[in-house]
Amino acid sequence: MAEKRVAIITGGGQGIGKAVLLDLASTGIDVVAADINEHAAVEAAREAESRGVQALGLGVDVSSAGDVDRMINSALETFGRIDHLVNNAGVTRDNLLMRMDDDAWRTVIDINLTGTYLCSKAVVKTMMKQRQGRIVNISSVVGAMGNAGQTNYAASKAGVIGFTKSLAREVAPRNITVNAVAPGFIKTAMTDALPEKARDELVALIPSQRLGTPEDVAASVRFLLSDGASYITGQVIHVNGGMYM
Ligand SMILES: NC(=O)c1ccc[n+]([C@@H]2O[C@H](COP(=O)([O-])OP(=O)(O)OC[C@H]3O[C@@H](n4cnc5c(N)ncnc54)[C@H](O)[C@@H]3O)[C@@H](O)[C@H]2O)c1
Repeated sequence: MAEKRVAIITGGGQGIGKAVLLDLASTGIDVVAADINEHAAVEAAREAESRGVQALGLGVDVSSAGDVDRMINSALETFGRIDHLVNNAGVTRDNLLMRMDDDAWRTVIDINLTGTYLCSKAVVKTMMKQRQGRIVNISSVVGAMGNAGQTNYAASKAGVIGFTKSLAREVAPRNITVNAVAPGFIKTAMTDALPEKARDELVALIPSQRLGTPEDVAASVRFLLSDGASYITGQVIHVNGGMYM
């Protein structure tokens, strides 16, 4: 491809998002790290730049339409185009349904699902004008199989899958693909928060007998954004060591 490509990664300040950011930077793609933690976003962007690309770090709350518009405008002012969006920002607020408060429900839906909607809607206009684009949404294995204590999170991640398939159908004629990656249990701050016993029990359920790494997820995102994946859309790629098939 002659022109330089540009990718926005939400939640790019740490964990899976940061691994995606650095992986794409290593392949020569200019990157925008958008994270509610502005300091982490700026630091991640600096690290990406050391891989020889241009990078921007922005403080963005993906559940705020105003923040998302500012993110798109800043990316366009700096780079003049947006080729890829990775909707990765996500949170958990786990509890059994009986004990879940409404805030925990709303926060998870607002960030994981509405954030994906807001960012996709904002970027699709630009991609349509460019007559090309790629969106990858980070779902989760629990969006497909469910998990006790995560009704809010599983609903948000199952919602991301339905959103992905519907938007894929809408924009396929415009040369825009929309896919989801559904990680299993990946070693990040999110899973470090689990008690050791719970983590050991989880690993026992994984045929590969290990947690995944952020780099395992980044590799599948890179593939879906590559030229070789141009005929793949509306799909969910499970990256879970075989724990759900
Ligand atoms: N770690 C896992 O095992 C696992 C498994 C399946 C899916 N996922 C999904 O992968 C994604 C990344 O998870 P992770 O494990 O790297 O988590 P993480 O907590 O390490 O990182 C999440 C990042 O998102 C940012 N963020 C949170 N709220 C935000 C908001 N409102 N706006 C912008 N940024 C925000 C955080 O500041 C953080 O940098 C999430 O969508 C998560 O649901 C993770």
